[in-house]
Amino acid sequence: MSDEKIYPVPADFAARAHLKAADYEALYARSLADRDGFWAEQAGRFVSWFEPWRTVCEEDLAAGHIRWFAGGKLNVAWNCLDRHLATRGEQTALIWEGDDPAFARHVTYRELHDEVCRLANVLKTRGVKKGDRVCIYMPMIPAAVAAMLACARIGAVHSVVFGGFSPESIKSRILDSDCRVVITADQGLRGGKAIPLKANVDQALEGCPNVHTVLVYRHTGADIAWQDGRDGWYQDLLASASADCPAEPMDAEDPLFILYTSGSTGKPKGVLHTTGGYLTYVALTHKYVFDYHDGDVYWCTADVGWVTGHSYIVYGPLANGATSLVFEGVPTHPTPARFWEVIDKHQVNIFYTAPTAIRALMRAGDGPVLGTSRKSLRLLGSVGEPINPEAWEWYHRVVGEGRCPIVDTWWQTETGGILISPLPGATALKPGSATKPLFGIEPALMDADGNELPGAASGNLVLKRSWPGMMRSVYGDHQRFIDTYLKAYPGYYFTGDGCRRDEDGYYWITGRVDDVINVSGHRLGTAEIESALVLHPAVAEAAVVGYPHEIKGQGIYAFVTLMAGREPTPALRDELLATVRKEIGAIASPDVIQWAPGLPKTRSGKIMRRILRKIAENDLASIGDTTTLADPTVVEELVANRG
Ligand code: WT7
Repeated sequence: MSDEKIYPVPADFAARAHLKAADYEALYARSLADRDGFWAEQAGRFVSWFEPWRTVCEEDLAAGHIRWFAGGKLNVAWNCLDRHLATRGEQTALIWEGDDPAFARHVTYRELHDEVCRLANVLKTRGVKKGDRVCIYMPMIPAAVAAMLACARIGAVHSVVFGGFSPESIKSRILDSDCRVVITADQGLRGGKAIPLKANVDQALEGCPNVHTVLVYRHTGADIAWQDGRDGWYQDLLASASADCPAEPMDAEDPLFILYTSGSTGKPKGVLHTTGGYLTYVALTHKYVFDYHDGDVYWCTADVGWVTGHSYIVYGPLANGATSLVFEGVPTHPTPARFWEVIDKHQVNIFYTAPTAIRALMRAGDGPVLGTSRKSLRLLGSVGEPINPEAWEWYHRVVGEGRCPIVDTWWQTETGGILISPLPGATALKPGSATKPLFGIEPALMDADGNELPGAASGNLVLKRSWPGMMRSVYGDHQRFIDTYLKAYPGYYFTGDGCRRDEDGYYWITGRVDDVINVSGHRLGTAEIESALVLHPAVAEAAVVGYPHEIKGQGIYAFVTLMAGREPTPALRDELLATVRKEIGAIASPDVIQWAPGLPKTRSGKIMRRILRKIAENDLASIGDTTTLADPTVVEELVANRG
């Protein structure tokens, strides 16, 4: 498109950037032409190894066989902590900013190392061994980071569950990966509200007989229920534990963590990431995408319950010896100026957040932004969903005063790290485009028949080869990994996203092409929400679709058919919302419930979601042909009674 805006790299930014345009071009070309040579060099540069690897990459995508740096030995916690002690032991590793602006704390690399070693010893005394799974259900506090690193130190595999998920969700995740230990806190705080983390764990554990240990961080000091023998206070146990804990040498392909994510079908999948390739990939991308320099203060506003928190609050930044800010609160508490005040308070240089937050703050007007200085800011980032050009422009002009480049970073839980993004010293920006592939990433666009589309085109986004940070499997179900990602286009990894590539080779992600929706940057499967709704005895059938939502990106629209004899009432609606909150969490609660006497189905009984999406979007002109439906009058009825 000739009318689109282009923002060139600011000259002063390029002058001090690690990589400039020519560097990107040369390194990208090399990363494809000499993949193994390129990655061997990066793995040596970004990661310290106890023993060298035998092979750089073994890859058979069709068979789901992916290995990077196999045979190499390393420890992720050692890389994130120990190796920094000599040179930056007294440097701040984590800046903690509490939900309440009166609370903030700096944690040095030495202090974090001490906490991690003690916690690792506590885990050991509770019987945790290499390969065991540990569930972490924590607020955004330094102890959450310590918990992840303590697992990594002894080779335990962590499964972090976002604090917004319900007891049912915790339970199913604990059971799926057979976690025997849970690390949690008495309560979390978000926007002044207490989140009953320990009570949620207690409830979840009623269905998890194998969990023998719950470590509880005393955070708010609230009264909580206690099970002697099983429960232990985090601080008390650490105080009496040894601070000496050797880092377990792990194979590059040993699992590092499991993170559950929603797909188009079934229950959430345990995405499995491993050790050496993952760390190499997140360290490299953190340094280059955010142009991180020693001494910078870096803030990613995500929660460690999501992959963004894993890769770009914890592992990438700490591997690089960065100062990473951990924020417990929400963007609008106590006021919509909070983000900008925190930036001034801690002199943040690099700020990485989600479009949904930007849109919500944009709505609050320029005032809360303009009341702050933000002079420390050098770079802005965006992640989680497509950023609409209006929000991009506002972020650039008002927040960044036109001087800070924006890196719109496209990636997924499955990809481990950022795959398509500008490099801020190298790439001219187009608002709304994630721009160009990073090193070693070879994207392609496919049509429905499996043909690759050349040049400027729109299609389904695939990746033609693996990269070190790629997921290796679905925990406990390797076949599901193959079926979900590697079957649609044999030999390629299918992302589930639609995408356009323009004449300049820039990529524009258009959103999911499957039944996954993205609500405020939270990924949800429509099938999961439907399963929750039909658990209610009054519900016969439910179909859930996404629709455009001004702040959240997508909203949740549920069509619900009731059992014969049940009447739709406001009270029943509330019961259905409560059911979804109980089964999944508040983030999955439908924005709209439309009572549907019937759902549009083909003669073979398949629900025509395309039609439901059009109704939810209020795009009635594009509903199209309904004559193939078993009962076309169903559509008229739904259109007449839109929610
Ligand atoms: C899905 C992955 C990656 C961390 C957060 C989300 C969408 C993500 C972008 C972006 C357009 C984006 C995609 C992707 N997405 N980043 N910059 N532009 N879309 O991780 O929960 O695994 O979701 O988020 O649809 O497939 P996730």
